[in-house]
Amino acid sequence: HSPSDERHHKPDEERQTGLNQGLVNYGDAGFSLFLRKAFIKGAGYSDDALNRTIVGIVNTGSGYNPCHGNAPQLIEAVKRGVMLEGGLPIEFPTISIAESFSTPTSMYLRNLMSMDTEEMIRAQPMDSVVLIGGCDKTVPAQLMGAASANLPMLELVTGAMLTSGHRGVRVGACTDCRRYWGMYRGQEIDDQEIEEVNAKLVGSVGTCSVMGTASTMACISEALGVALPGSASPPAVTADRMRVAEATGRQAVINARAGVTPDKILTEKAFENALRVLLAIGGSTNGIIHLTAIAGRMGIDIDLAAFDRMSRETPVLVDLKPSGQHYMEDLHRAGGLPTVLRELKPLLHLDAMTVTGRTLGEEIDAAPAFEQQVVHRFDAPLYPAGGIAFVRGNLAPDGAIIKQSAADARLMEHEGRAVVFEDAEDMAARIDDPALDVTAEDVLVLKRIGPVGAPGMPEAGYLPIPRKLARQGVRDMLRISDGRMSGTAAGSIVLHVTPEAALGGPLALVENGDRIRLSVSERRLELLVDEAELARRREGWRPVALTAERGYRKLFLEQITQADQGCDFTFLRPPTIQRRVPK
Ligand code: FES
Ligand code: MG
Repeated sequence: HSPSDERHHKPDEERQTGLNQGLVNYGDAGFSLFLRKAFIKGAGYSDDALNRTIVGIVNTGSGYNPCHGNAPQLIEAVKRGVMLEGGLPIEFPTISIAESFSTPTSMYLRNLMSMDTEEMIRAQPMDSVVLIGGCDKTVPAQLMGAASANLPMLELVTGAMLTSGHRGVRVGACTDCRRYWGMYRGQEIDDQEIEEVNAKLVGSVGTCSVMGTASTMACISEALGVALPGSASPPAVTADRMRVAEATGRQAVINARAGVTPDKILTEKAFENALRVLLAIGGSTNGIIHLTAIAGRMGIDIDLAAFDRMSRETPVLVDLKPSGQHYMEDLHRAGGLPTVLRELKPLLHLDAMTVTGRTLGEEIDAAPAFEQQVVHRFDAPLYPAGGIAFVRGNLAPDGAIIKQSAADARLMEHEGRAVVFEDAEDMAARIDDPALDVTAEDVLVLKRIGPVGAPGMPEAGYLPIPRKLARQGVRDMLRISDGRMSGTAAGSIVLHVTPEAALGGPLALVENGDRIRLSVSERRLELLVDEAELARRREGWRPVALTAERGYRKLFLEQITQADQGCDFTFLRPPTIQRRVPK
């Protein structure tokens, strides 16, 4: 049922192993293998080494990606694990995507990385693969690609950075980045102090230290069963992280021999578990798009309305920023994800299989339980239910989402006047204009930052509070866009409005002064303009040409799907999506 290379679907006894895999036979198969061996022996390998189970290790280290700055140490530890189990590790590169150095956006490059990952797994002979990812888009890209390749695999995340301190206050990227910048915009701190805090926010290599997208995808990998139990939380520079890497290498050899392909792990139950975990950890809204894309590769559709019902009965348990107060290293000391899973047990499919060969339930029971302060008990949650809500209405016929656990409760039922920005450029030009007609009760609307609009759906959905209001102490307003926001951000922010403005979705028709109503309790998002007027505006709406002459940008603009399909490329999804979750 998953769209995968034929060779991985053959019964185990027929499947080619090791160096023999994927040999192209131009009439003399023996010679092809002879040449292949001759070349790799140039690197000094013996026949004994080359006859072992081969574990590929994806190296996504890059000078532009400090979130993966521990890749060399992780690779060494994975190799040790592979060799302890009698296998041969071979590392190879794919592209690496770091949030800060990916123009126009990291999301624009995610599918490219998924294609690179999938095709390099297919192209090179290996019996299983360890994917080293970490920064926001890398883990979803790897899981998408590996799901399609369907070779035994384990995800190994790089782990969170350490927190640091600024003038006696603990800080970590990047919820605190936003908090300090908000104070700077509000003139509460000066130029010198904002420079000072800049050097403190990122305490070491590793991924963002809060429950942003990277930590969310780390937890999701563990919940899906494609990463080792307890592997989501150890910080990047710790001994625990290196031991996880060693264990991952060992397991990759065992799973290669046992033929544990992703289709045996990435089942409907696994995705339902992952959606529960996304909600319970107060996870990033980006996690929904990524899970939709990964599930799509397995022929599974994520039904957002059903996800919303799930959301109403799943409490937020993890007290990490941006919904709460702690950091990833605190979650690690609290036992990591197994502590969360234990509380969530009544809502999970405990029989879901994981890469260890044991079920999720067995893994939860094997982890120690103890008193801690970071993960709330199921009956005393941080936020009672619905950390992320799915809303719909005439402004978002195919839906939009809001992370209400990180928003101002007062604004969850709100009606206000629209202050409209036509695109990101328009917003940048006018948001801080002292003459901008705006009050704290207004609704800021930003168009054309969707999947095609920007392109690449930038995290510009976190619209800044207009400077003149920020100076009056306004810290939150209702904001609406077809874009995304960083998982480290908080605020009353409606995201992923679908269909997007650039494609002529109703968001494109909003004008200054229109009334907009959000009711999270009713899950409604309405543009209070009558249908006749909207029809008149639709007549007059003209699309801006969305094309490129050549290259990846052309491919992207022609193939990208909307948020409700995970922003994957149409041709990377299987032709038929047969199953739906959650049920
Ligand atoms: Fe890489 Fe946050 S920027 S994880
Ligand atoms: Mg992020």
